Amino acid sequence: MSLLVRASLLVLLGAVAVGIYWNYDGFDPESVRGATVVITGCSTGIGEEMAYQYARLGAKILITARRENRLKEVVAKAKSLGAQEAHYVAGDMGKAEDCERTIQTAKEKFGRLDYLVLNHVGSNYKSLQDKFHEGKSWDEDPDVDFFEDYLNINLVSYVRLASLALPLLKESKGHLVVVSSGFGKVPWPNLSFYCSVKFALDGFFSSLRVELMKAQQDVSVTLAVLGYIGTPKVIKNLEMLGILTPVDQTAMAIIRGGATRAREIYYPFSTWPLTKFGALMPQIMDYLTSEIDLVQES
Ligand SMILES: NC(=O)c1ccc[n+]([C@@H]2O[C@H](COP(=O)([O-])OP(=O)(O)OC[C@H]3O[C@@H](n4cnc5c(N)ncnc54)[C@H](OP(=O)(O)O)[C@@H]3O)[C@@H](O)[C@H]2O)c1
Repeated sequence: MSLLVRASLLVLLGAVAVGIYWNYDGFDPESVRGATVVITGCSTGIGEEMAYQYARLGAKILITARRENRLKEVVAKAKSLGAQEAHYVAGDMGKAEDCERTIQTAKEKFGRLDYLVLNHVGSNYKSLQDKFHEGKSWDEDPDVDFFEDYLNINLVSYVRLASLALPLLKESKGHLVVVSSGFGKVPWPNLSFYCSVKFALDGFFSSLRVELMKAQQDVSVTLAVLGYIGTPKVIKNLEMLGILTPVDQTAMAIIRGGATRAREIYYPFSTWPLTKFGALMPQIMDYLTSEIDLVQES
């Protein structure tokens, strides 16, 4: 066998091994049956889909969002799909009392908590779709009132809910899942408000993970680093570019990551090399992102 053929075989074997390593996570669907799960941001998008996927796996779920009519519909569908129990709390996660009510209701309904999945994203000031579409730099539109509200809903509430749930998660040796984005690893122009929240979530929850390890508390912390996902609200021009990942596959990838106590998951896979390249070559990434304009008016 020539050297070239041998080298090609070796590369092929290496690629297969890496593929198997990436795809094998040891997930056992039975581990989720009967598990008690709180998921935030479930009236639409990835959260709604996660509610259905947990339901199919036979979990007991409690979902939150502000729109009660949508939550009622999601709960009804989750029950029809096989959820052992399905409840909702309608509330604004930007309000401390609504966060408290959410975890208290989980305690009362389930008596224990195995999973807290932090997923919601929103603003009381303006639709995020409008904000993304505007594509203005911070310098052009330094809206500090919006920023403060945005941080409260999308960062402070995550920390608040996790803090309220930790005693229950410690008892159950449970799972904390935080839904983030590639924009929590790579800075992006005109998305400073979104990057601020997602970078901060990484900083807080990655530190919490280490603190829990140090204290020998068996609570896993999984950060889900997502690319562009085909949710109903996602920006139209991205759909045209054909770079959206199906929401059902994304929801299942997050659930698997949480169940297998993964440190981080990257979905779709392309998010991993992109964010690692950004970390290794920040100057080149800065140059490239300043040249690319994904957030355009369509
Ligand atoms: N879609 C993507 O391409 C993408 C990419 C990377 C990361 N992600 C991340 O994935 C997660 C889910 O995104 P998504 O696209 O599914 O979002 P989405 O479709 O906009 O849904 C957001 C959910 O959050 C809820 N919400 C908003 N403000 C709230 C508040 N103040 N209190 C309580 N609930 C509130 C909304 O319900 P109500 O309006 O009824 O309250 C809705 O159920 C987010 O963390 C997002 O950053 C998404």
